[in-house]
Amino acid sequence: MSDKYGVGIVGMGWVSGEHFKAYSNNEHAQVRGVCSLTVDESKAKLAELSATQCTEGVEVFATYEEMLACPEIQIVSVCSPPSLHPAQAIAAARAGKHVCIEKPLALNLANLRRIQQAVDEAGVKTIVSLECHYNPEVQVIKSLLDQGMIGEVFQCEADYYHGIGPWYAQWSWNITPQEGGSSYLSAGCHALDAVRYFAGSRVTEVSAFANTSRSNNLKYQYPPNTVCILKFENGVIGKCASSIEYIGPYYFPITINGDAGHIRNNQLWSNKIKGQQGMATIPTIMLDSGDVTHHPFQGEMDELLDCIVNDKESHLSVNNAAKTFEVVYAADQSAKEGRTIRIEEFLAK
Ligand SMILES: NC(=O)c1ccc[n+]([C@@H]2O[C@H](COP(=O)([O-])OP(=O)(O)OC[C@H]3O[C@@H](n4cnc5c(N)ncnc54)[C@H](O)[C@@H]3O)[C@@H](O)[C@H]2O)c1
Repeated sequence: MSDKYGVGIVGMGWVSGEHFKAYSNNEHAQVRGVCSLTVDESKAKLAELSATQCTEGVEVFATYEEMLACPEIQIVSVCSPPSLHPAQAIAAARAGKHVCIEKPLALNLANLRRIQQAVDEAGVKTIVSLECHYNPEVQVIKSLLDQGMIGEVFQCEADYYHGIGPWYAQWSWNITPQEGGSSYLSAGCHALDAVRYFAGSRVTEVSAFANTSRSNNLKYQYPPNTVCILKFENGVIGKCASSIEYIGPYYFPITINGDAGHIRNNQLWSNKIKGQQGMATIPTIMLDSGDVTHHPFQGEMDELLDCIVNDKESHLSVNNAAKTFEVVYAADQSAKEGRTIRIEEFLAK
């Protein structure tokens, strides 16, 4: 028997291939099973992956329950549409599997809490696909902040602009409130999470507005555009805009002001650098593509395996990532009610 952790993937669509590749590239993991809506779909995805990956011996399960019952599988990746994440993540945890869950973790607070309770009770390791944390540009910014290159941060902004239309398989379910949910739940959560990550504190208040373009060319059944402003416990103020009906190339601008400098994506102005004449550009891989094949899932799966092997909690565990989704729900509530939401009161309800 292999000493690698066996992985099972549920939902063999677009993102699943990147999970497959990232596990296959990790020395401690091996994909042993997959399942999806139909067996044919799983087989077709494996056939597609076999061009670049070893798919030999990967079992196609007819049902998720059968995959969970397989003792050769110790890790489950949930890559299905959002409304299925809670039940599938909870079932995986109760079956004693470590779990990787795609964003959005859950579409509402009640289901988020159910997932948290299940993984806490099971004591399994978890990670949530807010994988921008492993993008080199984000790592550059975080290390500049950690080294105090712009001093104490007082303002932080990140935005998500990515037109999600019929050219993506997920569009058919993503346009519905039952699956897509909101601009942030659909995808803008990556940017809201980045604001939280860089601000380094707890959000205390959020105020948001949402709309749909008059033409609504992409046929969203909920407002695909949201802008929110945020107040953090440490005094930082922030902003996050998200548009998934945006027309233009994928765009994820990041702006951070500190009392000793300024960061604009991979550009830096720092009072700590004497003689600086203009913004310094740090060559890196930018956060500038909505194609999942360009996303840094390797870092995510490597962190999950490291946490399992060395018995650690991931910095993107369900309980840590939950803090981003709590703000997402509060922002959406604010946009609906047209008022500022205090996070503590929102969570206490
Ligand atoms: N982290 C990221 O950057 C990122 C990028 C893309 C997608 N995602 C997320 O990944 C998830 C999947 O998105 P996608 O783009 O791959 O969607 P997709 O539509 O391409 O794939 C979803 C798959 O789930 C399958 N499925 C549907 N119902 C099922 C069921 N009951 N049981 C098992 N499988 C079922 C579908 O048949 C399909 O194969 C979503 O939550 C999405 O938000 C995340």
